[in-house]
Amino acid sequence: MTRTPSMNSAQLIVDNDFEVAKVNKRLFGSFVEHLGRCVYTGIYEPGHPTADVDGFRQDVIDLVRELGATTIRYPGGNFVSGYRWEDGVGPKDQRPRRLDMAWHSTETNQFGLHEMARWLDKVGGNELMEAVNLGTRGLEDAMDLLEYANIPGGTKLSEERRANGADKPFDIRMWCLGNEMDGPWQLGHKSAEDYGTLVSSVAAGMRQMDPDLELVVCGSSSHGMPTFGAWEETVLSKAYDLVDFVSCHAYYQPHDGDMASFLASGVDMDGFIKDVAATIDATKARLKSKHDVFISFDEWNVWYSDAEASRNPEGIGNWPVAPHLLEDVYSVADAVVFGDLMITLLKNADRVHAASLAQLVNVIAPIMTEPGGPAWRQTTFYPFSITARLAKGGTVLEPKLSSSQVSTPKYGDVDGVNAVAVRGADGSVSVFAVNRSLDTPAEFEVRIGEDLRSKAGLTVEAQTLHDDDINAKNTRDAQNRVTPQANDTVEFDAQSGTVKLTLPAVSWTAIYMK
Ligand code: AHR
Repeated sequence: MTRTPSMNSAQLIVDNDFEVAKVNKRLFGSFVEHLGRCVYTGIYEPGHPTADVDGFRQDVIDLVRELGATTIRYPGGNFVSGYRWEDGVGPKDQRPRRLDMAWHSTETNQFGLHEMARWLDKVGGNELMEAVNLGTRGLEDAMDLLEYANIPGGTKLSEERRANGADKPFDIRMWCLGNEMDGPWQLGHKSAEDYGTLVSSVAAGMRQMDPDLELVVCGSSSHGMPTFGAWEETVLSKAYDLVDFVSCHAYYQPHDGDMASFLASGVDMDGFIKDVAATIDATKARLKSKHDVFISFDEWNVWYSDAEASRNPEGIGNWPVAPHLLEDVYSVADAVVFGDLMITLLKNADRVHAASLAQLVNVIAPIMTEPGGPAWRQTTFYPFSITARLAKGGTVLEPKLSSSQVSTPKYGDVDGVNAVAVRGADGSVSVFAVNRSLDTPAEFEVRIGEDLRSKAGLTVEAQTLHDDDINAKNTRDAQNRVTPQANDTVEFDAQSGTVKLTLPAVSWTAIYMK
């Protein structure tokens, strides 16, 4: 019989000289799709007690600011593959209602490109990352949308934008060329060959109009897709020099009650990034290209996609407006996995230059709302907001990590503790760590190199997200059931620059030194 030790252990050595990369602020992006209640009764609800003149919920704007989300990907997702962007501009009383095939809903088009740009301004000048429809549409439509959005004036579509109230162009830099075109569920799904051919002509055409765009080509919808790898290779072979990013999407949930593997989901995400990076490198070498392509991890999260909450409405006469869809309520365990995914993105900051948490409000989201009622923070809100606040503008340092192992059915033995360190622009050092073990706390030691120590000063604080009930959640009626708490096990030896603290089983921790 194997005995479970009473304590696991892990050590992280942080040295100022070994940098991975600067943290791109786009790493803290999120995603607003016309799906369920993300837009309608999420960010936009005219008549809500906190709604402003534009119908934007002020309580949600305040929470989005607190979350620290940067770039917002819009308007989908699967939704974009049947979307006619022009339906969502112009006088609201003339905008058509349309069927949305992706989510079996009715789209009222009361919110569109202008509303999104305006909402982003109000949140704090956040960047818009726009997706074009390459499902039911193609080159001409992508060019039309680009003209409407980015040309200052003097042409049919740019003047239409001005007449619709936006005198200045939206100047959108980052564009997604379709969404999950590898997925058989996608409206207008394509083979890698067909998508590669289409996307290279769309990218070239868009660049003819606006050469400095940053273009994201669709990679695989998950690491486990049967076409994974071959898809990236084929598409990049055709479009490599014309694009700047390849996308990755990944969602995690426990399967058959296997919590040990679920808690180690970061291992899969890390492998996914490394596999895509290898494909980018191989393509670059084969094409003898001087151009660099990075990863936009533009959908990531925990998502209980097999659950009832993710079932589309059904029936030829049943196309509801803004139905309750994908409204997952996240537990402590989910937030720990989520925090681990953020650690993994940071560790790969040299290759991942943009990422979008899918999604922002109500739909697999850190922020929940009740129509006409309150807005509140899910458990996952905290790892995001704290990581964004401490790591934005910083530099990831090479994580020299050694950890006790935990065994998982899916990934074998993995590090029980995963961690990363970020040097802040203000000279602080932040360490983010998770204990993936289901039952064993870990003694975690962080050793700070001498010159970092002098820069980082001597105060150490740590906050831990944990609960004895790993299924504890925040709900409308218990909005603050789970919040991060000060970790009072921290010991700091200034002489040796060693921080020691206990990471409870199934926990996420941020350590801040300054
Ligand atoms: O985020 C929910 C959905 O997940 C998106 O619409 C799609 O791109 C992905 O499959």
